Amino acid sequence: MKKTLASILAAFLSLSLVACGGGNSGNSAASGSNDQGGGAASSAAGQASGESTGKKVGIAMPTQDLERWNRDGAYLDEQFKAAGYETVVTYSNNKAEQQVNDIQNMLAQGVDILVVAAIDGEALNTVMNDAGAEGIPVIAYDRLIMNDNVSYYVSFDNYTVGTLQGQYVINALDLNNAAGPFNIEFTAGDPADNNAGYFFNGAMDTLKPFIDSGKLKVVSGQTDFNTVATEQWQTDVALDRAQNVLASYYADGTKLDVWVCSNDSTALGVAQAITSDYAGGNSVIMTGQDGDVANLRNIKDGVQSMTVYKAVANEAVVTLDLVKAILDGSTVDNSLITGSNWGFECAYDTSSYFTSEGHNCPSFLLVPDVITADNMEEKLVTPGYYKVGADGYLEATNG
Ligand code: BGC
Repeated sequence: MKKTLASILAAFLSLSLVACGGGNSGNSAASGSNDQGGGAASSAAGQASGESTGKKVGIAMPTQDLERWNRDGAYLDEQFKAAGYETVVTYSNNKAEQQVNDIQNMLAQGVDILVVAAIDGEALNTVMNDAGAEGIPVIAYDRLIMNDNVSYYVSFDNYTVGTLQGQYVINALDLNNAAGPFNIEFTAGDPADNNAGYFFNGAMDTLKPFIDSGKLKVVSGQTDFNTVATEQWQTDVALDRAQNVLASYYADGTKLDVWVCSNDSTALGVAQAITSDYAGGNSVIMTGQDGDVANLRNIKDGVQSMTVYKAVANEAVVTLDLVKAILDGSTVDNSLITGSNWGFECAYDTSSYFTSEGHNCPSFLLVPDVITADNMEEKLVTPGYYKVGADGYLEATNG
């Protein structure tokens, strides 16, 4: 039986304190969360409503420091429990070695399947091999893991996230008609995260014709992924680099028109740098991704222009149905999509993602969406992802 968004959100409500690290409700996701250094813990099967399947699912999330992973962890945990699975949920403080230990503990606890959002897509080799040796299927969740024991990948179309950001800039500056030139800078994500290159390339490929023609000018000259990357997607790291770029290339009054940021945590840092260190009076076009609450405030205030939203509740729905199919021994292919009644788009892709050269990873890719000040209520509040708070800004429905 499929869960409706409303029921998922209602369930999420009950996990909100847990996800935000603000409470501990005993034998729930809180006991399974170990971002603060505790050990992984299991929650009992079928605690919510589902009949017990007798199966255990290990859910490894990167960190509770970045907003979205709290949502993912909570949605996944709640949905699996409601469907009768026992869960082990871990957050690993963005430390790759800790995530290896956490997954090893899951294997020791006898999980039947692993759902892993990797901190470092290349650092999990040994533990993925261990899973493979034990015959435990692995779903790479959101971020691909570079190991051939990964059975399936569930994510959003990562390259499209970047193209949506690039296309937003083209439209905002009317680049096909305007003479320009306009000045632009880039901030990308964590090089250890396999997604980060896709986001950056999607945006860069979309904007490159305008850079080549001279309509867009990267004043710093920093167009290489590694130069503009942000370790662990940290706001402070993005802030520091943006301050350096502004001091070195814009302190003389050079106008900055656009800053393409791959996601919201980095956009937050760049916005802070622009507010404190940019001499110009114009509002700078800024992109982001995730729909984090602080960034939605900035969008409403005109500080950030857009964010690419990915409905992680839907990502969890796909993951749950995929796990069911794998553990039931059903064929997993496009029929998972055609045979479902998901109320959202998802593509089965067997040609875009590879865990090693020539080794394709069958992928289920959901579709991201552009959020601006003009459409945020329609796209985020109406479907129930966020609500309008007393101060007029959006807040999580669990808030
Ligand atoms: C996710 C993004 C997120 C970033 C930082 C990426 O792998 O796809 O949604 O902004 O990690 O957490």
